[in-house]
This record gives sequence, C-alpha cells and structure tokens, in this order.
Amino acid sequence: MDIKDLIIIGGGPAGYTCAIRAAQLGREVTLIEKENLGGICLNWGCIPTKSLLRHAKFLNDIQKSSTFGVKINGYSFDFSQIMQNSRSVATKLEQGVKYLMKKNNVEVIYGHAKFADPSTITVEGKDGVKTFKFKNAVLAVGARPKSLPFIDVDGETVHNYRTILANKNLPKSLAVIGAGAIGLEFSYFFASLGCRVTLIEALDRIAPLEDPEISVALSKSFESNGIRLMTSCSVRSINKDGSEYTLEVQDSNGNVNKITSEMILIAVGVTPNSALVEPEKAGILVNKDIISVNENYQTTNPLVYAIGDCIGAPMLAHKASHEGIIVAEILSGHSHKALDKEKIPSCIYTEPQVASIGLTEEQAKAKGHSIKVLKFPLTALGKAVAIFETDGFCKVIIDSKYGEILGVHMIGPEVTEIIATVSVAKSHEAVAESIIETVFPHPTLSEMFLESVAAAVGRPINF
Ligand code: NAI
Repeated sequence: MDIKDLIIIGGGPAGYTCAIRAAQLGREVTLIEKENLGGICLNWGCIPTKSLLRHAKFLNDIQKSSTFGVKINGYSFDFSQIMQNSRSVATKLEQGVKYLMKKNNVEVIYGHAKFADPSTITVEGKDGVKTFKFKNAVLAVGARPKSLPFIDVDGETVHNYRTILANKNLPKSLAVIGAGAIGLEFSYFFASLGCRVTLIEALDRIAPLEDPEISVALSKSFESNGIRLMTSCSVRSINKDGSEYTLEVQDSNGNVNKITSEMILIAVGVTPNSALVEPEKAGILVNKDIISVNENYQTTNPLVYAIGDCIGAPMLAHKASHEGIIVAEILSGHSHKALDKEKIPSCIYTEPQVASIGLTEEQAKAKGHSIKVLKFPLTALGKAVAIFETDGFCKVIIDSKYGEILGVHMIGPEVTEIIATVSVAKSHEAVAESIIETVFPHPTLSEMFLESVAAAVGRPINF
C-alpha cells in the first residue's frame, strides 16, 4: 500500500497554506481535495463576494456622482456580467493555487477522503477508490451552510451563500435570514442593485458579534439605503404563492408579520464538515461536528491534526491559513507561537465597512478591566472630510492601568484595510504610548486609529 508522509485533507485556505509551508520545511505533502483548490473562501465565499461588493460600490458611487460635480444622465448595468466577473475572479485565483502546489512540489489528488482506520484513508475519485497509509494527516475540511427545517435550498429562488453566487437572475425582492457577515454582505450587494431587501435576524441587532455601537451605526446606514431590518425576529414558516414566497416572521413580543419576497437567502451560519471524513474510524473525537484538538491542534488521534473551520469559531479564512502555518511548523519540528484569538481581526465588507479586533467594551468590563473608551468620529478626520466619507468612527478600548489596546472597533471607509495596522500593534502588544510614538502618514484614514488612541489617553490633537 502507498505510504504518504503527510496527507492534508481539504484544499481551502487552511489546507493549501499548510501544504505549502510543510513542503517548504521538507515534508512530502499530498493534498486531497474533493472539489476546487482554494476551498469555499476562494471559490464560493470571501473572494467572489468581494468582487460583487466592488460592483455594488461602483454603482453606489455613480449615485453619489453629483457630490463630485459629475452629471450622469441615466445608466444601466448587466447583472449577468457582474455575476460572471465574480466567477472569473474565482477561476483565475484557483489556477493560482494550482500553480503554487506545483511550485512547492505538493501532490494533489482529487477525491473524497475518509478514514478507514487510525493511519489509513481511502480516497474516492473519478478513477475509483485508492487507499493510503499516512505518517501524519491534517484535517482542513472546512464547513458548509446550515439549513432551516422548513425550507429547502433549491438553488433557484431559495439560496445559501454558495448557490446565490451562481444565480443568474436579479430578483425584485430578497429576504435574507441571518444578519452575520454573509447576510449583511449579500443584503448590501442586492440592495445596491435596486432589489428590495428585508434582513431578518433572530438576535436583537444586526452584526451581533460586533460592538453594539457598530451594530447601531450599520443599522442606520442600511436603513437609509432602503434595507428593511427585522431584528429579534424568527421565521416561523415560508410558503410559496405563485412567483413569491410569504414568510411569517414572529417578533419577540409574539407578533407575527407577513413579508413577501421573490427570493430567499439563508445565512444562519455554517457547520463543520467533520462527519464526512468518518473521524470515528480513526479515534478522532468530535463534539457537535467540531473536531476536538489540543493547544497544538492535535486531535485525539496523535497522528492527526485539525485546523480551520472544522475546529470551530471564529470561522475565518485568515485564522484558518494562520493555523495551517502553525501546524506545518509543528509537524516539521519547528517552534511556533500559539494563536491568540483576541488578536484575530474580523471584517465585514459592506459600505460602510466594519472591522474589529479584540474585546468589545462589554467584554472588557466583564473581564474586570478598568478601561478608557473613546469613539473618534470620522467628521474630525481630515482625509475622511476631503474624500466625502465621514460616515463612521473608530472606537478604542484601552486598559487604564497599562495602556494595553484591548479592542478596536471601526466602521467607515477602508477600515478592513486599516485594521491590519491595528493587528500588527496588537500582535506586538503595543500600548497606547507606542501607538502615539508611531508616525502615521497624513492625511490618511489610518490616522483614525492614532487619533482615537491619543484622545483616549487624554492627549487629543484633532479632536
Ligand atoms: P454567522 O453565524 O456569523 O451569522 C448567522 C446569523 O444568523 C446570526 O446572527 C444568527 O443569530 C442568525 N440566525 C441564526 N438562525 C436564525 C434564524 N432561524 N432566523 C434568523 N436569524 C438567525 O454566520 P454567517 O453570516 O452565515 O457566516 C458563516 C461563517 O462565515 C461565519 O463564521 C462568518 O464569520 C464567516 N464569514 C466571514 C466573512 C467575513 O469575514 N467578511 C464573510 C462571510 C462569512
């Protein structure tokens, strides 16, 4: 039987990054993927949606043209080209990952892998079933969309994040169930194309994982763009009548509202794909679909490690790829730095954008920190005023005693780029003083971080 040195199951950001790093460090790597290299992120998630959102921003900018003294007398757009552009981007980048596998001598086998015993896997591909022994394996099998009990995704008028990316028709109305990152980004995209969007969220605010003040600001912006928000609401039933669905939506007081919509997007979270590899045959413990790992990402089978969405929250591509690098280094006998979840940034790419890292104000208080909090409005930032983008703020939470940056929460233009600066600062445990000592270029939007930290510790300049 063929014996492989290191088998990685799953070619998404976690798996392919792990493959590259492990190969660079001298392991002989075999990567097994059942669909496309790049996984959900590259093919059906982060990347194609960023392409769609760029189109949405372009359309919104046209609508603001009079602000810039430009008169545009009517315009139209081609929905199928917009969708096709986003597919082309995914295809192009998938080719890039294929190239990287070749460049790093990673063997790629296409097929569905599952365990036969603790050191053996079978791979069912188009050429039949192959069996391999392994010295080590890494599970990077990702996650798939959760469904709702009373409605099936048909890929025509009822979608999940994946099927909607292959959708050919722009609906007149869209009901989005779930106001996490996926629900928010698609709501913004479809509303920007003139679709009547209703966003239904079970919790009491949209973007419920973000600081509550971010949720309030994003809600205002969404509502001013015509998106109907129904928070503290759950969908009780969905029925189709002709070309429209009727959704019965119940609020927290028990009142039931009926809304109608041509299309539905279910965005109520994701569930790990762990069961698909039959982990029980390899002695791998799984709890509610989440693979149990120790601090070194080792499963209960000492030969097997697990990374990315399949080991639980936060289910983010950058966390997954970072874990891929850590595990490659562990498996190659190198030292590594543990990943601190409080140092993982989170981004929502709507307009305004949202980006955050670390603790919210509530979490910092709950952890017993004595804190300084400051919310710096973009109306006070030169660059934001100059480019007519003053909608937003940067909120910092700083430990009063040591000046540690506990959390940063931003809403506004390009904050998903600016947060990387904050990530570097947090990664190196920079305190308020070291941020103030840093020279930020002027005028830039990145100064919102500097200004808010300075003001928080009583040294405001432009505020
Ligand atoms: P999510 O778990 O972040 O949000 C789902 C939302 O649906 C929650 O707010 C939840 O309260 C709500 N919900 C659940 N059941 C509901 C029901 N029956 N009725 C109404 N609301 C309901 O999951 P989401 O947005 O689907 O994203 C999946 C994963 O992908 C997440 O881990 C997310 O972080 C990640 N992701 C990240 C992106 C980014 O960083 N920009 C973009 C897309 C996805």
